[in-house]
Amino acid sequence: MKIRRAVIPVAGKGTRFLPATKQVPKEMIPIINLPMIHYVVEEAILSGIEQVIFITSSGKNAIEDYFDRNFELEEFLMKSGKIKELEMIQEIGKMVEVTSIRQKEQLGLGHAVLCAKDIVGNEPFVVILGDEIVRGPNPVTKQLMKVSEQNNNANVIGVMEVDPMETYKYGVVKGSFIEGSTKTMRMTTMVEKPKPADAPSNLATPGRYIFRPEIFDALKVIPKGVGGEYQLTDAINLLAKESEVYAHIFEGQRFDTGNIEGYLNATVEFALMNKDSEAMMKKIIKEKIEKYNIK
Ligand code: G1P
Repeated sequence: MKIRRAVIPVAGKGTRFLPATKQVPKEMIPIINLPMIHYVVEEAILSGIEQVIFITSSGKNAIEDYFDRNFELEEFLMKSGKIKELEMIQEIGKMVEVTSIRQKEQLGLGHAVLCAKDIVGNEPFVVILGDEIVRGPNPVTKQLMKVSEQNNNANVIGVMEVDPMETYKYGVVKGSFIEGSTKTMRMTTMVEKPKPADAPSNLATPGRYIFRPEIFDALKVIPKGVGGEYQLTDAINLLAKESEVYAHIFEGQRFDTGNIEGYLNATVEFALMNKDSEAMMKKIIKEKIEKYNIK
């Protein structure tokens, strides 16, 4: 069955980016000239997604507006003869069908995903976290969809190797590789934010999941977990008891743009990846290395 919908939770307060996030949703902070959420939605579209469901909270309207048409601006650009810019913003307004649901209380990622139940209905869907960007020639969500298709439309979690000392930041999986593969595992359990000593592996998810609709049944019954929140990880563990869950080590470079270091890293790297800004960024880096005597 074709996966048509992506659930993208964006209700978080973005406290690491205060004071900017006092007025601007974290997801709208730009990396060069595209807001972070643009890269994430682009990944969904390149993976074949037709509808994006944002799980939002108050103060997040700018995200929906960004993916909508802006006739006033279009008219202004038209009158000013800025046709290239006009086409660019029209393109964004037509990128994908967008729906949003308010998560009235921030009770955790599991609760956020459950908010999408009525819109998703009885279909498989993907969850993409809005503050993690993964770039590479093959969109990560597409890679996971392929693994799902090859395994009887199973649930799939995208994982990556992380520094074993940093497992406390992630959901970490345990499982065994399926025959003939060094990338795809049959997952048995997942632990939310384990201390390094308790981590079952160093394979962690940056927030890319393919789910069958049964995940909603699990989300409805889980108790509060780590941090007093309804954890998606707990629902995945429940799901794994009744349904197949795979973990797949995806290809691509991941940027944790939910924190300042990851954000700076993405800004420099994206500028270097882009042919329009590559030379500019190299020049800047070179100058800074000399000026600050960076070794
Ligand atoms: C969430 C998930 C965690 C996942 C992480 C990726 O945690 O609960 O399993 O590894 O996103 O960013 P959060 O970072 O929202 O605390």
